[in-house]
Amino acid sequence: MNKKKFSVVIAGGGSTYTPEIILMLLDNMDRLPLRAIKLYDNDEERQGRLAKACEIIVREKDPSIEFVATTDPETAYTDVDFCLAHIRVGQLPMREKDEKIPLKYGVVGQETCGPGGIAYGMRSIPGVLENIEYMEKYSPNCWMLNYSNPAAIVAEACRRFKPDARVINICDMPIGMENNIAKILGFNDRKEMTVRYFGLNHFGWWTSIKDDDGNEYIDKLLAHQLEYGNTLPDEGNNGDYTDNSWYETAKKVKDLTAIDPTMAPNSYFQYYLFGDDMVAHTNPEYTRANQVMDGREKRVFGECARIAEAGTAEGTSLEIGIHASFIVDLATALAFNTHERMLLIVRNNGAIENFDKDAMVEIPCIVGKDGYEPITIGTIPTFQKGLMEQQVAVEKLTVDAYEQGSYHKLWQALTLSKTVPSANVAKKILDDYIEVNKEYWPELK
Ligand code: NAD
Ligand code: G6P
Ligand code: MN
Repeated sequence: MNKKKFSVVIAGGGSTYTPEIILMLLDNMDRLPLRAIKLYDNDEERQGRLAKACEIIVREKDPSIEFVATTDPETAYTDVDFCLAHIRVGQLPMREKDEKIPLKYGVVGQETCGPGGIAYGMRSIPGVLENIEYMEKYSPNCWMLNYSNPAAIVAEACRRFKPDARVINICDMPIGMENNIAKILGFNDRKEMTVRYFGLNHFGWWTSIKDDDGNEYIDKLLAHQLEYGNTLPDEGNNGDYTDNSWYETAKKVKDLTAIDPTMAPNSYFQYYLFGDDMVAHTNPEYTRANQVMDGREKRVFGECARIAEAGTAEGTSLEIGIHASFIVDLATALAFNTHERMLLIVRNNGAIENFDKDAMVEIPCIVGKDGYEPITIGTIPTFQKGLMEQQVAVEKLTVDAYEQGSYHKLWQALTLSKTVPSANVAKKILDDYIEVNKEYWPELK
């Protein structure tokens, strides 16, 4: 039987991740055959710096695939089956501000955690909603696989403003960590593991890891993490880490697991539970945004310029985004009803029994043609529940602030964040953020 061929639009076509996602799509055509790949961005110049190279890569792999790069929403969103959305409203220079402003006051400065995530959330919401509206207008049967950050706040905004939209919010962090967990436990592939996990985005825990025979490995993992964190012994920064800061993050899991040695934490908890250590080890003049601009961004754009100039992608240093294979898994599950079990960010709706049914939680779901069905988690313990309630309130207050244009709601969100020491500090950060986000945020009263 000839498999149907799909048309995909990448929203945020000028993203540093676009080439590796295209390579990954092209590498998986046996699972997800393609007839079109379109790039869509609202910054023509930036997308243009990648588009020629992407076109060459696609043409050399399969000239029958139509390639389009556009800034016109109608061209982008007409006749598409999947939208892979990875936009960054304000781009990396605004990420830099998100990170540096709180650090001025000795507070964690991070892309998605603490004040940085709140500021970024206020910018991202309208950008993501706008793309959902284009999708609904031009291809109402399309699915949006959205990994635009900050995923927790974006997911809450989707729940509130677009409850019936065909949008699935997803994050690659658990997958990246599971790749390491598989190695630590001696599996060949993370897909040999069946996991139980619960929490919010960048804010969750593994409670079970089983093989196909039903043997439980969580205690073995916890014992390992208490000694080495989520790294392999002696691997140093030679493992699968894009940067030294990611290696340090995997090592820090050791301290996180020590707090509750009954479940394996997402490494993003380092910003909430060891904010003081994070601030002490961050140069407030040179943050992760600077590392990305000097590293990944230069590398990807430089290589794309080289390919465009050479007219061929032969010998390219661009690599398939292996960690991004979950995007193909998700699209394949929706297209071919595979019933794959995947961690998604979805409305709780009773899955975690003792938690707000209207919170957006990250839990395993079964994915098929009609979307996803969450797996029941049951009751969670006090420590985890307390942390999650505080954090989900921060996320909801941020969306309240956006919706109502409310200064007070955003001040409350910042004040409630576990990363912020007082309402005084929260106000200083907020006032600085308002100053630099004029172009992006609604006016706050
Ligand atoms: P980037 O700045 O390199 O690229 C983002 C692109 O989005 C830019 O070209 C920008 O012009 C475009 N854009 C901004 N607003 C837009 C809009 N309204 N419509 C269309 N395009 C728009 O960013 P990056 O570092 O490559 O990251 C891209 C996004 O993916 C970020 O949100 C990042 O946090 C996210 N991300 C998420 C995960 C995950 O697991 N959830 C993993 C990696 C990256
Ligand atoms: C992980 C997270 C993403 C985040 C990214 C940041 O992949 O899941 O949500 O955007 O890390 O990585 P960076 O290299 O840009 O700091
Ligand atoms: Mn993520």
